[in-house]
Amino acid sequence: MAERYAVIGQPVAHSKSPWIHAQFARATRQDIDYGLIEASLGGFERAAEEFRAAGGKGLNVTLPFKEDAFRYCKALSPRARLAQAVNTITFGERIAGDNTDGVGLVRDLVNRGITPAGSRVLLMGAGGAAQGVVGALLEAGVAALTIANRTETKARELAARFGVSGSGYEALEPRFDLVINATSAGLADESPALPAGLLGRAKLAYDMVYGRDTPFLAAARAAGIATCDGIGMLVEQAAESFFVWRGVRPETASVLRELRGR
Ligand code: ATR
Repeated sequence: MAERYAVIGQPVAHSKSPWIHAQFARATRQDIDYGLIEASLGGFERAAEEFRAAGGKGLNVTLPFKEDAFRYCKALSPRARLAQAVNTITFGERIAGDNTDGVGLVRDLVNRGITPAGSRVLLMGAGGAAQGVVGALLEAGVAALTIANRTETKARELAARFGVSGSGYEALEPRFDLVINATSAGLADESPALPAGLLGRAKLAYDMVYGRDTPFLAAARAAGIATCDGIGMLVEQAAESFFVWRGVRPETASVLRELRGR
């Protein structure tokens, strides 16, 4: 019988994860069934326990539950511990939490020919999405990492945890090779309030939001800078979760191509 997995979030109805995992399963001949669980705010643990009791093998966790998932798991991988957020749960002898977002981002950058190693990186945002990728960016060998956030204290706290610099937006100077938007501003058709000219000669402006042209990406394009959304990261983090669960690494390029064409 197919082993059961699901993505849990709020809202989750439009998640592309079931489709992506179905492609991975087909390509690697794994017999899995991957569904959607819409949990109420405050209802994460109950929904996760119900799924586990019904024989579920694993969960992907998306907004806004990654920190709830971190608290819920009984064992944590080093990268989940570092992120203090969990996007991949495996139900085995213990409830094991992992975080594949950072690896997903770094793999997507590398696929695009952007080498994080040696790059000066600005990471905007200090919520769950930003938290999940700091460790992987540092591990990838970035030359310098600055975390900026609208609420400056949150940027400073997150930055201090990793020994990098944190600030508000107004203090930033244009000296970045790569600017990553990990805020949820794009979902509200807004952009972080960047100082004029901040993007300077950046090689890439990256928005983790996917499937829409955010004001941040539009501004970057207008400044003549290459842009991309978070669809590649979505596919790569999914592939890493699939590997965590099934021990098989699915090929991602064809899935990404098809997703872009849909
Ligand atoms: P996520 O898990 O997507 O990171 P979150 O934890 O709620 O969600 O964090 C949202 C992030 O987007 C925060 O960094 C938030 O900034 P604040 O900490 O100042 O709230 C940022 N954000 C959301 N809307 C924004 C906007 N319009 N402009 C700038 N930053 C915004």
